[in-house]
Amino acid sequence: MSSTSRASFGSKFGIIMAAAGSAVGLGNIWRFPIETGQNGGAAFILIYIIAIALLGVPLMVAEFFIGRHAHTNAAHAYKKLSSHPFWSNIGFIGVLGGSLILCYYVVVAGWVLKYMFLSLDGTLSTLFTPGDASGYESLFGNFVSSTWSPLIFMVLFVLMCHFAIAAGVRKGIEKLSKIFMPALFVILVVLVGFSLFAPGAQEGLSFLFHPDFSKLTTSSVLSAIAQAFYSLSLCMGCLCTYASYFGKDVNIIKSAVSISVIDTLVAIMAGLIIFPAVFSAGISPQSGPSLAFIALPGAFQQAFGAVPAVAYIVSVLFYALLVLAALTSAISLYEVPTAYIHETWHIRRRYAALVVTAVCLMLGTVCSLSMGVLGDLHLFGKTVFDFLDYFCTTIMMPLSGVFIAIFLGWVVKRDIFMDDVTNGRTLRAAPAGVIHWLLRWVAPILLFAAFLGVLGVI
Ligand code: TRP
Repeated sequence: MSSTSRASFGSKFGIIMAAAGSAVGLGNIWRFPIETGQNGGAAFILIYIIAIALLGVPLMVAEFFIGRHAHTNAAHAYKKLSSHPFWSNIGFIGVLGGSLILCYYVVVAGWVLKYMFLSLDGTLSTLFTPGDASGYESLFGNFVSSTWSPLIFMVLFVLMCHFAIAAGVRKGIEKLSKIFMPALFVILVVLVGFSLFAPGAQEGLSFLFHPDFSKLTTSSVLSAIAQAFYSLSLCMGCLCTYASYFGKDVNIIKSAVSISVIDTLVAIMAGLIIFPAVFSAGISPQSGPSLAFIALPGAFQQAFGAVPAVAYIVSVLFYALLVLAALTSAISLYEVPTAYIHETWHIRRRYAALVVTAVCLMLGTVCSLSMGVLGDLHLFGKTVFDFLDYFCTTIMMPLSGVFIAIFLGWVVKRDIFMDDVTNGRTLRAAPAGVIHWLLRWVAPILLFAAFLGVLGVI
């Protein structure tokens, strides 16, 4: 494939929207508030922001550099910077990891889609009984453990991704991101506005902004790092693949900083929506993964119960927000194997997307059924769904992170990095120098320590 006929993004705004679309996802709106709730509120957010600055931004710059420099998919990109048999192949971890994450991500995205319909048709508001979440609990439990309903919504979601990807980089990914991301932002602002006026909102705000350092443990520091990686879509090929569609004039460092700021802002705004509502409904912020599907539907009804129309609107908007966020993230995960198959086998993009869709539907079905009829099928003591999540986010992601940091800090010549990141020395060298230093010294050590921590060695 010649480089002239290769796809590219059309504008800098499109680039920021697409990459921010990848970053902003269920991780921000669903996972971040749960992690914050379980790890002591503001103290966790502080560690999270430090992790983004020391590890997140440098690794994002690294992936952008590799993708744009190589101008090809995530697996082959590393081969253009090294011929060593080990280093030239580390991109495969990303392609494999990105594809696996996609397979369980679409399952949760399907639930979100279902809940958008449940709030639209009024089911979520009629189920409400003050002070009793059992209605929502059995609704969720019965739904995820049933066979067909979650599968149908997963298939619907996968088809949406498929058509977006098949439409192409500019007409699919970029165009959708340019519409969805601003829409998402508007919904966020409206919801924050509503939530701040919920009775008892104050308590939620102080939980978010007054740090409780006594709750910080080694494991919460590890969770903050894992959350930062997951939220920024790092090390799983997405950013590298997107950067292969960047033009030579894009300021990589500035883009990485903007995307990280947008991503963090969205996560904090999601906290601003969720915690005031949760506190105002008298629910414990630690209530875990069931927060979005069991506690929140009731919390919205309780917090805005005085004006039922507002409760209805907030609920619909919240799940619509989750659907939009999940779509742009899943699309970026989809693009990783699609670009790889398209360029390796020289088959059309549309057919490559079909292969990805077929594999994703098969594995996704197993993940979805692992909540119900396949619940007894265990891999290393976990259900298929939990195992994939664990394997991708706690093993593959930090491992890929260590490799990428060492690759850039020690294997690739510093001059190549500096030339490329400063756009041929037309931009200031100091920021690129700092990033290189962080990649060379700080990231490998911190990530290696984190990896040992995950394995329970330290
Ligand atoms: N960042 C997305 C979210 O917050 C999910 C995601 C997309 C992702 N691409 C990724 C996570 C790559 C890890 C790696 O929901």
